[in-house]
Amino acid sequence: MDNRNIEVSRVMLPDDSNVAGNVHGGTILKLIEEAGEIIATRHCNKDRQGPECYAALARVERTDFLEPMFVGEIAQIHAELSYASDHSLEVQCTVYSENVVKGNRRLTNRASLWYVALAIASPHTVTLVPPLKQQNDEDQEKGKRRYEAQKASRDQASDHLNVDDEASAPGMINVLTPASRSLCAPYSVNYSQSSLIVMLHPSDCNSSSFASGGSTMKMMDNVAGIVALRHCKSNVVTASVEAVNFHHVVKLGHVMTITGRPVFSSNRTLDIEVFVDCEDLVLGKSFRACSATFTFVSLDKKGQTIQIPELKVETDVEKLRFGLARKRYTAKKESRKRKAETINQNSSTERQMSVN
Ligand code: COA
Repeated sequence: MDNRNIEVSRVMLPDDSNVAGNVHGGTILKLIEEAGEIIATRHCNKDRQGPECYAALARVERTDFLEPMFVGEIAQIHAELSYASDHSLEVQCTVYSENVVKGNRRLTNRASLWYVALAIASPHTVTLVPPLKQQNDEDQEKGKRRYEAQKASRDQASDHLNVDDEASAPGMINVLTPASRSLCAPYSVNYSQSSLIVMLHPSDCNSSSFASGGSTMKMMDNVAGIVALRHCKSNVVTASVEAVNFHHVVKLGHVMTITGRPVFSSNRTLDIEVFVDCEDLVLGKSFRACSATFTFVSLDKKGQTIQIPELKVETDVEKLRFGLARKRYTAKKESRKRKAETINQNSSTERQMSVN
């Protein structure tokens, strides 16, 4: 392996999975981020001119979970540096699941992560990223296009940044106990919304005592999983996560409130918005670190997706969110269909050419 690539692998244990033996999407996101952080931090400190720094996760592009992974299988994460701008670094990860007993290996995920170099001594100071030598001009050009697309998409992002906005946790925290939940209509937004409040411990942080993006995503996936399970009452798994931007450094000892609420259901998917709000209890400050939309599906014993109950939207704002999410769902479905048609067309042209 050269310095542009690493491979990290680990056997999947019962702790990594849900009760049906499916490895949690959050476990995979955490593994991906660990691999990304190693390779990005190594690169950012290479031939160092500036201060010692660590690579902080700034963004994860939309991630699809292509195949389930099971307890006993080996997760293999291949991480590769693919583009550097002045202050950010792209890492592309490919995840495989190997069943060493049956002797097969399946592609389960592809993810693209962006890191920013932050000075360890002063974590709000962005430092220069050393240039990445590309194999050829075409790779450099493609990387630059991905960087520009990502920047443009951040400019348009509708992340809910304001902790006080009505989308955030305070209004939801009313529904916490099983007794008060039982007063909500089944399949309504209030019925399934859930929160997790944690103080950041060393195990959630990197060696410099800043929250690791991977642990945060794992907790977000856990909360989304609880929301999905409350709603579907069947085996649920993560199907995809929309792009996530990490806006703030979170430190050891900060208190995180992670809140999830269902916003949309199709026949076989449930979309859940998750917000991460943080508090520094000593300084009395709070801020929103990130938010993301997770899509969950429900699987039967054979691993086939099944129908899920329709989400009951009651208030005007819930109806509005449902409508917006439905538009995104339809657009994504059409884009997947177009991609599949292009792949089919290309492979039939290739077959035709090989016959001729
Ligand atoms: N995704 C990708 N790149 C990003 C980004 C994002 N969400 N936000 C900023 N950047 C890049 C910029 O493009 C820029 O690089 P460039 O000059 O090569 O284009 C670089 O970061 C600095 O941008 P700047 O506007 O000066 O920084 P900022 O004040 O917006 O801070 C972060 C950006 C990422 C440093 C800041 O948002 C942060 O500290 N986030 C938390 C990181 C973290 O702790 N992650 C784990 C959380 S659990």
